[in-house]
Amino acid sequence: MKFFLDTADIGELSQAAASGLVDGVTTNPSLIARTGRKLRDVVDDIVRIVDGPISVETISLDAPGMIAEGEGFSAIHPNIVIKCPLTPEGLKATKALTDSGRKVNVTLCFSPLQALLAAKAGATYISPFVGRLDDVGQDGMLLIREIVQIYRNYNFKTEVLAASLRHPIHVLESAKAGAHVGTLPYSVFQMLFKHPLTDIGLEKFLADWKKVPQG
Ligand code: G3P
Repeated sequence: MKFFLDTADIGELSQAAASGLVDGVTTNPSLIARTGRKLRDVVDDIVRIVDGPISVETISLDAPGMIAEGEGFSAIHPNIVIKCPLTPEGLKATKALTDSGRKVNVTLCFSPLQALLAAKAGATYISPFVGRLDDVGQDGMLLIREIVQIYRNYNFKTEVLAASLRHPIHVLESAKAGAHVGTLPYSVFQMLFKHPLTDIGLEKFLADWKKVPQG
């Protein structure tokens, strides 16, 4: 399973990337807005830190607008993946952009049939939002399982990018379901390393080591 970091915060991205375990980055307009910086400045920094797919989201509502934005993003760096929303216009743009050799991440997916449409449009990634479905009382993880099953049934190349992951169990269940990628907030990424028995065990080993004659 590939790990992307779901952030536009350069400080936390640098910290996470130093682990050597970050395969890519996803951003969205809310994450960019949180930085108070210009999109271009943020993206320029991200491409310097991570050498992997970096999703940048279009904000147009019509396909020609998304295509123009996407072409502009692609010109910034070859690692840029264009994020288009799961709307009829977004899928038109997805088809056009993928036909021209660009990579597209179709975002705001909340149903398996939406995901089927995105795969048929040639999306490189589909982003089902697990946490936001949980928020409204639906089973977000079921969506991941259903999409993985459908894509396997028809041998679609589109990768399932589990998004809106809010805690480590979301990551665990996405990995068990066979999601190709999980995009994680920095806080969730950090939690993956943690287990209290690791800390206790390390403390004990170090204490015992002090009893071993040295030299
Ligand atoms: O980038 C999309 C996504 O991961 C959003 O997460 O927590 O805002 O639902 P969240």
